[in-house]
Amino acid sequence: MLSTDQMMQLANQLIGAEQTPADSAIFVAGQNIQRALFGVDINSAHLLLAKQLGFDAVIAHHPYDRGLLSWPVYLKHIDLMVKAGVPQAAAEAAVLPRIEMLRQAGHSVNNDEVPSTARLLGIPFLNVHNVCDELGRRELQRVVDETIARNGEDTLLDDIVGALNQSFGEFGHAAARVEVMLGETDDYAGKTVVAHGAYTNGGAAVAAAYFRHGVDTLLYIHIQPEELKKLKDMDYGREKGRLIVVGHLAADSIGMNVYIRELEKQGVEVTRCSGALEP
Ligand SMILES: [Fe+2]
Ligand SMILES: [Fe+2]
Repeated sequence: MLSTDQMMQLANQLIGAEQTPADSAIFVAGQNIQRALFGVDINSAHLLLAKQLGFDAVIAHHPYDRGLLSWPVYLKHIDLMVKAGVPQAAAEAAVLPRIEMLRQAGHSVNNDEVPSTARLLGIPFLNVHNVCDELGRRELQRVVDETIARNGEDTLLDDIVGALNQSFGEFGHAAARVEVMLGETDDYAGKTVVAHGAYTNGGAAVAAAYFRHGVDTLLYIHIQPEELKKLKDMDYGREKGRLIVVGHLAADSIGMNVYIRELEKQGVEVTRCSGALEP
């Protein structure tokens, strides 16, 4: 049994975060949580359902503010890029313009719609976003690194796709397939980086910056079609970059499932819904 505070603290500890990330929040606090409902997207119907079915708390993955409050998490792209060898200035140039767009777009959102339902129902409610995504990124990068360690320079995009499908049951439960969206399945993977865990995907600008600075293959969990088109038409000063898109719900679920295992160790029974896939 945990309180909502303890549930959030447990999440933060899993990635060594000193503070709750800006895209995660406790909307209605509660104690003694034994049974929780956990979904990728939670709306008011799920909250009512949870009340009706006797759950003690509801956990959402996605936040409700569409960037209004969450935008600082998008800065994590810069850290990930710099760690992968992208110069700081190039990383900032790829990331900062999008932050302005996120902040501007966030102004139109009704971030209180779903949390207000939880308050009226009096059901404990929180959302845990960045921790799950960071845990998912680490898991995906681990399998990529192991695959490349095994196959060396001969590693093909197809080897990575195969290893991901084999390593994570979530991909078998998802409707979207792990897909090579830029490049061919028999291309060499080369230096391969998972860009995830920074609020949302970095679009064409972030991908192109990786390709310009020594990353051969990038993994996103999703990309907007217009951003993919932009990326395909871009000149990034080299032969080509490769992009593997692993699929949104499976990738989110991989991180959520790491967190769920830890909640279960603490005696919280978790029921998955709304896109949360079994491992
Ligand atoms: Fe996510
Ligand atoms: Fe997501």
